[in-house]
Amino acid sequence: MNKNILIGGAWPYANNSLHLGHLAGLISGDLLARYHRLKGDNVLYVSGTDCHGTPITERAKKEGTSPDKIAEHYHEEFVKTFNAMNFSYDLYSKTETEYHSKKVQEIFKRLYDNGYIYEKIEPQAYCEKCNKFLQDREIQIKCPECGEITKGDQCDNCGHTPSIEELKNGVCLSCGSKTVEKDNKNLYFALSKFQDIIQSNTDKCKSFWRVNARNETEKYLKQGLKDRAVTRDLDWGIDIPIPGYETKRMYVWIEAVLGYLTDTMKLAEENGFNWEDYWKEGHNNKIYMCHGKDNIVFHSIIFNGLLAGLEDNFHLVDVIVSTEYLNINDEKISKSKGNGITALEMLEKYNSDSLRFHIINNGPEKKDTNFTIADFERTHNNELLNKFGNLVNRTLRFKGLESLPIGNLDDNAKEQIEKTYKETEIAIENLEFKNATDKVMELVEFANKYYDEKQPWIQKKEDIQGFNDTIYTCSVIIANLSNLFEPFMPMSCEKIRKYLNITKPSWNIIEKIEPIELKDIEPLFNRI
Ligand code: MF3
Ligand code: ZN
Repeated sequence: MNKNILIGGAWPYANNSLHLGHLAGLISGDLLARYHRLKGDNVLYVSGTDCHGTPITERAKKEGTSPDKIAEHYHEEFVKTFNAMNFSYDLYSKTETEYHSKKVQEIFKRLYDNGYIYEKIEPQAYCEKCNKFLQDREIQIKCPECGEITKGDQCDNCGHTPSIEELKNGVCLSCGSKTVEKDNKNLYFALSKFQDIIQSNTDKCKSFWRVNARNETEKYLKQGLKDRAVTRDLDWGIDIPIPGYETKRMYVWIEAVLGYLTDTMKLAEENGFNWEDYWKEGHNNKIYMCHGKDNIVFHSIIFNGLLAGLEDNFHLVDVIVSTEYLNINDEKISKSKGNGITALEMLEKYNSDSLRFHIINNGPEKKDTNFTIADFERTHNNELLNKFGNLVNRTLRFKGLESLPIGNLDDNAKEQIEKTYKETEIAIENLEFKNATDKVMELVEFANKYYDEKQPWIQKKEDIQGFNDTIYTCSVIIANLSNLFEPFMPMSCEKIRKYLNITKPSWNIIEKIEPIELKDIEPLFNRI
């Protein structure tokens, strides 16, 4: 039966260009969306730009401009980048829209009415020189978990996200003064009430998750979930729909994760379907969330807590697809080191399919991995061009061949194709994407070996039926590769479909292709 599949890609902060590390985390979402569409499932793949929060106000201050200008600038750049990568979002929006604010406020109000958002007055870090309560990112503290000196939003070393309590004593990052404690009023979300629900959802689903997602989530559950402040002393962000909070804004993480829901509602309104089919229990649905490792608990714990708090039969997140970090030339990606070539710069220079394939095949699936241009170029030339591109070339551009000869599909080849669908499917469903690409590449290698053994350049002169069978068999394999590689390299697959007159990709074996003229066929990859 077809399933309703919701895939959420993390919403990048609009404070800097996307780099390859972002793409390495987000590509999983596009790959899963394409795979499930091939399977015939109803897929919604949604994301958008995370416009609010201190990262954006900091950037605006640095550049002497306003947060909305910064957010809009990066939003447009992100759209360009994702288009260049052929990400197939059903909706890529942003958090700075009327629609998102309105829906988020309704949800917030509902959580408040349900009794899960409450007021708390407590001492908070205040800078007397700057005359304000400091936001987490504006304070430097010693991490209470690991002891490293870090910014207060999230520890760079261990990933811990400190509470207001833990941020009470620090140093103001903008003026260097020691902070003082001063009473402040905030709204809190009663996350602790959802300990059991989140624990049992985690137990049910975690066998499918990557190890890091499992460990991070369990760590927080074991410590016991703590209530979280959901208001901030800022003037950039979503207004709090509760009287007495006019000068504060919503904590960015709370409203950003709700973007998965507001995107779905928007799509449903525009296209006339029921958004609940993707979000409520009992709709044969599955929810995937794809992001880097620093995002795990916001999705596995906080987002699930919010959904549960709505007390409206919500289905919690099934699969956390988290990745580790991608380093560049053995260094953590960082602007100041100058190793952070932006994703858009890469895509202006190189084939997007090659970049997709490379960051999947060498991606930080289970551990941090290292990216170098030399490795990337090797993948492009030695794997994609020499193997996949060459197979297509020497089959469909066989010298002097004007139309595709119809022959018989080799039995052994057929078996290999069937096996590849099965193995690739298992790998994808186990979130082993590197393995999945390896399986499809094995079919390419099988086809090249078959071609070499048959020697069609000799068969053409001596055994025309044999020649026809060889070229036909290779063409059928190529047709199937245009299905099997579709989640990974959609541009090349579309080219093949055009050449072989295949209307639509699907996750079903193609056993027959029609006689077609072979013309205007171009190499899939050009040597770097
Ligand atoms: N903006 C966050 C980051 O870049 C990710 C937010 S994901 C969301 O790490 F779901 F909350 F939007
Ligand atoms: Zn200060």
